[in-house]
Amino acid sequence: MKTYNVAVAGATGAVGNEMVAILEERNFPVKNLKLLASSRSVGKTISFKGTDIKVEELKEDSFKGVDIGLFSPGGAVSMKFAPIAAASGCVVIDNTSAFRMEPDIPLVVPEVNEHAIAGYKNRGIISNPNCSTIQMVVVLKPLHDFAKIKRVVVSTYQAVSGTGKKAIYELEQQVLAIYNNKEIEKKVYPHQIAFNCLPHIDSFLENGYTKEEMKMVNETRKIMGDNSIKVSATAVRIPVIYGHSESINIETEKKITADEVRKLLQGKPGITVVDNPAKNEYPMPIYAAGKDDVFVGRIREDESIENGINMWVVSDNIRKGAALNTIQIAELLIEKGLI
Ligand SMILES: NC(=O)c1ccc[n+]([C@@H]2O[C@H](COP(=O)([O-])OP(=O)(O)OC[C@H]3O[C@@H](n4cnc5c(N)ncnc54)[C@H](OP(=O)(O)O)[C@@H]3O)[C@@H](O)[C@H]2O)c1
Repeated sequence: MKTYNVAVAGATGAVGNEMVAILEERNFPVKNLKLLASSRSVGKTISFKGTDIKVEELKEDSFKGVDIGLFSPGGAVSMKFAPIAAASGCVVIDNTSAFRMEPDIPLVVPEVNEHAIAGYKNRGIISNPNCSTIQMVVVLKPLHDFAKIKRVVVSTYQAVSGTGKKAIYELEQQVLAIYNNKEIEKKVYPHQIAFNCLPHIDSFLENGYTKEEMKMVNETRKIMGDNSIKVSATAVRIPVIYGHSESINIETEKKITADEVRKLLQGKPGITVVDNPAKNEYPMPIYAAGKDDVFVGRIREDESIENGINMWVVSDNIRKGAALNTIQIAELLIEKGLI
């Protein structure tokens, strides 16, 4: 089997760390693995298949001889280094928002628009969508194909790991401080996140929405290849460590029943339906954490409109929302003989 030289840029972060773990878990055909981060991390090691690999500083010459670059070092860093890596012949799959809405850069969720992947040839870069968008479109696609979605109203309940490793630490430290009657520290979020929820993810825009909310609007349309889908989003940060939850309401052109939704989603790649209210069974972040699938439950018809469905959708934001989707894109490139 052909093997590849792989570099992970942002390897010491929440997403990068998970990418290394998933490369090992899925036995990705790695010839050589290079781990890159900022100068702060030089000297640290990360274990891969029983070997401790030293973290190197991300530099302009880091990508010589690298076939696949898996990026999650933050938007500004990707903006600078992804084109440099691509110019040296490496295919970049980028987790940041830096290139997602550029028309000649594919934005890919393999279960939804794998055909778009061929567009990587334009600039040597493929974008991985925003975590909240990925889990939503995996579920929307089969329903859109069946009943054509006109409008989506979504409210998110997003885990702190979506803000990176510093946010996980901040939540843990605030919980400890509160139990020990000490002052809490706020560095990552503008307000206390422990025992609270913040209707504020990323920065506010002039239209009153946040960037996170507008990512869900624009990225959904690009991935689904349909600009007519209307999306209204409210993104909320909650004190959960792993796993984003979403309350999703859709309005469709054609009538679709709750049973039809269950049948359409059950067994689709990447989806598990957990929908048994009689036994208190529905998706929850504590069960989705560490798993690959997008979990769907609380499927019911919206009685306030003619053709509407409500659902509750949960997935591990670091896995399907980031690291796993990235590696699935790399696997797809190999499967299709594109690299
Ligand atoms: N967390 C999620 O659920 C999620 C989902 C989708 C997309 N993303 C995106 O993925 C990116 C990373 O997220 P994260 O959650 O993994 O963040 P994180 O935990 O804060 O990790 C950031 C990583 O980037 C590295 N880095 C920072 N500045 C750098 C520089 N100047 N040069 C080289 N490396 C640098 C850090 O290295 P050091 O350790 O050396 O500082 C670390 O490895 C962000 O753009 C984020 O929006 C995250």
